[in-house]
Amino acid sequence: MLRLVLGTRNKKKISEIIPLLADLPIEIVDVSQLPHVPEVEETGRTFLANASAKAQGVSKAAHTWTLAEDSGLVVPALGNEPGVDSAIYAGKHGDDAANNAKLLSKIAHVPETERGAYYVCVAVLCNPSGEIQAVSEGRCHGRIVTTPLGSHGFGYDPFFLIPEYHKTFGELAPVVKAALSHRAKAIHHIRSAICKYLVP
Ligand code: IMP
Repeated sequence: MLRLVLGTRNKKKISEIIPLLADLPIEIVDVSQLPHVPEVEETGRTFLANASAKAQGVSKAAHTWTLAEDSGLVVPALGNEPGVDSAIYAGKHGDDAANNAKLLSKIAHVPETERGAYYVCVAVLCNPSGEIQAVSEGRCHGRIVTTPLGSHGFGYDPFFLIPEYHKTFGELAPVVKAALSHRAKAIHHIRSAICKYLVP
């Protein structure tokens, strides 16, 4: 059975990605299980640049097929912020509470009718030599609400409303997010490449 490394240490992302690939006859490990693989800097200014850097960095260091992704929230009324800076919007990497507080303070000045937003996820598959073999993108459209609702998901999820469900990703069960999310769509699109290269 071939091994696929997930090039992320984010436990929430890992818990969303693994069920989407669990039916495939491949061994999935995340990079935190490979202590010799160094952390990859996210210095790119696009989701594609960062996802590629993570996939290439990890696959070269681990000499293994690697799937990495970069994702974030885009709010057009805020000049597409937080965008690629989603994880560090308020300064410290992955400080969800501070990032949400910054989003809230900025969105307060935007009329309610202009609070549309979308999540983006770009996924990249690299072979054990660090060569990119496939790229995919998924988007999920919604609206930003000013009262956080629910405790599912992570990051901006309690503020991200799916209009069709009248609920935020914080309120919706993980199985619903797994059917609708930017990450689910990106993984779904790259699945055929994973099957092509890793499934006998
Ligand atoms: P990355 O680790 O650089 O890809 O940063 C991802 C950041 O984007 C996270 O820290 C969150 O702030 C945000 N983000 C990406 N995907 C999601 C999601 O599914 N829910 C909530 N926030 C997300």
